[in-house]
Amino acid sequence: MSQDLDPKLLQKLSFDLKSTVHKNRLVGLWRVMTGFRWLYAGAMLAIVLGAFMRVYYYRVVQYVIDTVIDAGLNTQYLPWLALSFVGLAVLEGTFAYLRGVWSAKTAEGIVLRLRDYLYDHMQRLPFAFHDYAKTGELIQRSTSDVDAMRRFYADQALGIGRIAALFIVNFTMLLRMNARIGWLSIVVMPIIVAMSYWFFGRVSKAYDRYQDQEAKLSTVLQENLTGVRVVKAFARQPYEIDKFDRENWERYRLGKKLLIMHSLYWPLSDILCGAQTILVMAVSAMMAVRGEITVGTYIAVMGMLTWIIWPMRNLGRLIVQVSTGLVSYRRVADVIEQDREDIVAGSVPLDAQIRGALTFEHVSFSYEPMVVLQDEDEKKKQEKKKQDKKGAEPEKKEELKPVEVLHDISFQCAPGDVVALLGSTGSGKTSIINLLLRFYEYQEGSLTLDGVELKEYPRSLLRRNIGIVEQEPFLFSRSIRDNIAYGVDREVTQEEVERAAQAAAIHDIILTFPEGYNTIVGEKGVTLSGGQRQRVAIARALLKDPRILVLDDATSSVDTETEEQIQQALDVLIPGRTTFIVAHRIQTVMNADLILVLDKGRIVQSGVHDDLIQQPGLYRDIYEIQSRIEEEVADEVAREAEPASPVFAFEPEGILA
Ligand SMILES: Nc1ncnc2c1ncn2[C@@H]1O[C@H](COP(=O)(O)OP(=O)(O)OP(=O)(O)O)[C@@H](O)[C@H]1O
Ligand SMILES: [Mg+2]
Repeated sequence: MSQDLDPKLLQKLSFDLKSTVHKNRLVGLWRVMTGFRWLYAGAMLAIVLGAFMRVYYYRVVQYVIDTVIDAGLNTQYLPWLALSFVGLAVLEGTFAYLRGVWSAKTAEGIVLRLRDYLYDHMQRLPFAFHDYAKTGELIQRSTSDVDAMRRFYADQALGIGRIAALFIVNFTMLLRMNARIGWLSIVVMPIIVAMSYWFFGRVSKAYDRYQDQEAKLSTVLQENLTGVRVVKAFARQPYEIDKFDRENWERYRLGKKLLIMHSLYWPLSDILCGAQTILVMAVSAMMAVRGEITVGTYIAVMGMLTWIIWPMRNLGRLIVQVSTGLVSYRRVADVIEQDREDIVAGSVPLDAQIRGALTFEHVSFSYEPMVVLQDEDEKKKQEKKKQDKKGAEPEKKEELKPVEVLHDISFQCAPGDVVALLGSTGSGKTSIINLLLRFYEYQEGSLTLDGVELKEYPRSLLRRNIGIVEQEPFLFSRSIRDNIAYGVDREVTQEEVERAAQAAAIHDIILTFPEGYNTIVGEKGVTLSGGQRQRVAIARALLKDPRILVLDDATSSVDTETEEQIQQALDVLIPGRTTFIVAHRIQTVMNADLILVLDKGRIVQSGVHDDLIQQPGLYRDIYEIQSRIEEEVADEVAREAEPASPVFAFEPEGILA
């Protein structure tokens, strides 16, 4: 797609918008225009020239009346005058057209870049940000707020220029024609400016709250749609509808408030502008009657007056609208100013080979809560809290305290080892994996890969070399083939895809789908069962042929028989590749080179299966429970397989009786 764009635009698109963030929102908006300012200046020039054409139009009218008509129809000039009317109209039209084209290029170009940047930016923000930012809020900021900014550049930024140009040109011309009328024509101006300023403050606040509310609404909607299965399963539709209703009402209330403010502004400014028109009209009519000005001047004055009143009237509207642009800028800048996760930083070269020896030494880690994208109300509440506490006793940090989830983790594995992680839910298995991929950074201890501290590895290098099947794998609404090929940044052959699918024991199932590998996966993979989804995700990780393979509970939804198939395939694939397996079944982990048993963020036992079942402890307990259950199941199966017992023979009678 990008090759269709012209190179100049492409160059502008590469501009880093982070440098545009500024506390003063107008400065920020000005900076966001970087690269488009000449176009904008061109559009402005077209506006000014257009305004001149209009003024001269009235001057020609004045001339026609005073010199031609009054002087007894001097027809000699008429064709020339007619021609100048046409000429002025054509020029004005041309300038209007140029203004339209250039302003569209400016506004659309700026917003194209902004949207691209935000999309790219949000994907590069760290996990910690996404953990706390609401999706609805992000969607709102990158759509509705960006659109408000587009309106700012398309209408308001030029509108201000247009208003200023029309006003200045017409006003100076009027002053030159007749100073008294000139000054008279702006007497209400101070009142209008003061009034607009007052509205500006109020509308800003109201609009800010309105946008926040809209973001809340889209969050509710988005959560509801994502969790539609839960909503239905628990028959909580009335509750959800009620929740939506409440937020929707609040939005209605805030929207109404905003509109009422607008509708209060208009009549007020209409009254003022009307009074202004009548005043000038009456005074200049009297002057014309008294012969102080000519009839032609009177008509020209009335024409120009329209173009002085129009800017005044629109100044207020514009100021009010500019406030929405400013608010939206702040909301977008809040996202832009977040720090990205650097995926290339690190002293290890990006194309380094990884062998896969890992050493954890006294690693401790906590998730650090962060505050992101607060809305105005929350910000104020917090500021107020801060102020209230000033001078009072030192603040207790009761909220936002990081909780340590991994304590003093130490173990090591050689390249090609299989490490199994076992432990109750919440014991920290996924957290260990999160550290491996540098999704989060550990705070204490040392973690080395091939003898080099993990922090020295560029994140992209790690993520290219580690294949992960996440606990809740996500599939895109694309074909199964595309989903499997997703992890590699190159063209892959059908054969490769099928080989990966075969290893993940999903090939045969895919073939039964109507369009085989081209079958589109429904949103979140609803057309696939949980186990099938997991296996597609395994195929995706295997196709990548990574040096380190991470299977986070990857076979939890797969039946034992299929798991065995996958296990066999992995046994063939695994040699030479370090593998982390998180699992709950002893059978899955018993062949591992190292088994780590985790409890509440600590390693409580480690070793190989044969040693671990000898020692008393969590591992043996789990083993015993699982063996007992298996024995019972086996007994049950065996009993059901036996020929019908005498009890069965009597049963029909029992039922009839
Ligand atoms: N992104 C996060 N932010 C804050 N706390 C988190 C985050 N992810 C996990 N935790 C907390 O860290 C602890 C360990 O979670 P972790 O996901 O590592 O457990 P787990 O062993 O993988 O459990 P399970 O078997 O259920 O997947 C839990 O108490 C959890 O509440
Ligand atoms: Mg987990």
